[in-house]
Amino acid sequence: MDSQLLDARYRELQAYVGWTEADAARVVAARSIVTPFLPALIDDFYAEIERHPQARRVITGGDEQIKRLKGTLLAWIRELFEGRYDADYVVRRRRVGLRHVEIGLDQVYTNVALSRLRGGLLASLNGAWEGPAELLIDTIHSIDKLLDLDLAIIEDAYQSEYISRLQRTERLATLGQVSGGVAHELRNPLNVVKTSVYYLRNARSASPEKREEHMNRIERNVELADGVISALSNFARLPTPTPRPSDLEPIIHQALEINPPGARVATTVDVAGNLPKVDCDPIQIGIVLGNLIRNALDAMADGGRLMITARQRDGHVLLSVADDGVGIESENLARIMEPLFSTKTRGLGLGLAIARSIVEKNKGALLVESTLGKGSVFTLRLAAHATESTTK
Ligand code: HEM
Repeated sequence: MDSQLLDARYRELQAYVGWTEADAARVVAARSIVTPFLPALIDDFYAEIERHPQARRVITGGDEQIKRLKGTLLAWIRELFEGRYDADYVVRRRRVGLRHVEIGLDQVYTNVALSRLRGGLLASLNGAWEGPAELLIDTIHSIDKLLDLDLAIIEDAYQSEYISRLQRTERLATLGQVSGGVAHELRNPLNVVKTSVYYLRNARSASPEKREEHMNRIERNVELADGVISALSNFARLPTPTPRPSDLEPIIHQALEINPPGARVATTVDVAGNLPKVDCDPIQIGIVLGNLIRNALDAMADGGRLMITARQRDGHVLLSVADDGVGIESENLARIMEPLFSTKTRGLGLGLAIARSIVEKNKGALLVESTLGKGSVFTLRLAAHATESTTK
């Protein structure tokens, strides 16, 4: 965030706590009262850190570093009482949060350390106060507000830095996973192609049938490799849906036509008679359905029953694809829709992740229930199209 934005955010937070010029003046006036107590407060601050190993462990430079830190903290407290709460002040205060992320300090220790420091500052002010009691109360309120604002900035900086570091790490981990998956999926077909090319080049007396067989293998494996690349690029740019009121029945029949279950699978389609239309992109929902049908068929390699049902419930339409195949282990169930997670020996593990993403873009949800050895039910929950009332 640039310093102007940070400054605007700080002004907004000041307005929220009701910070005024009078607060600033009261804090500045308290400076000379608290200053003599600061060295003892700072010693107490670090003595407490010493007693807490989780906080202490980030101080890796021994006494030398503690000495430096005491100087840094003194400067930080002094600045509180200087009355210049401008854009540069905000940038400097944010650095505390950023630095704490860098050294791996848990934010909770800053919160409790500040609470301790606040207690010490206010007790010192109280003990040495010689002015009117009402002014003391107002001054305490002003210091409280200022410390709350400082903590808000430190925490804000801490959180955003923490999250962006986490995202960077996750992105790298995902990149590693994707590269590993792609490498694995492409290596097999490429090896087959390589072997067939080698054969075609070197087997001088190969029969025309043998040659044809190798040409076919090359073609099939190039298609396989192409499929891996298509799955990846489909995932990378899922198009925005164009929703319109759609009938599910033709979508179901079309998906079955494209993905025929074959003779060993008994297929039933059961669509409720009064089923309302659904607000969705019919092409995208067809892709999802095709994906679920293919998964169901894969789960029933030796044949079985495929049941597709559509029912209305509470303003939604539930479209289920059920099979009585191998089922999914309960520990895999929660992860089955994560990208790159697969229980199959082949495939990148993007099919269900793409399906879920498409359904969510269509303002729906993809749910799964499964029992190992008995089968699985995948259910699409989609918004029923609200029909206009015909009565006026
Ligand atoms: C009220 C709470 C705290 C405040 C106001 C505070 C303030 C600061 C400041 C101003 C810096 C220097 C930032 C910069 O590089 O510009 C800093 C760094 C640091 N803080 Fe804190 N801190 C607090 C709590 C803690 C706690 C509880 C620990 C626990 C050990 C801690 C450990 C450190 C360490 C190790 C550094 C890096 C110092 C270096 O460069 O050697 N801080 N802190």
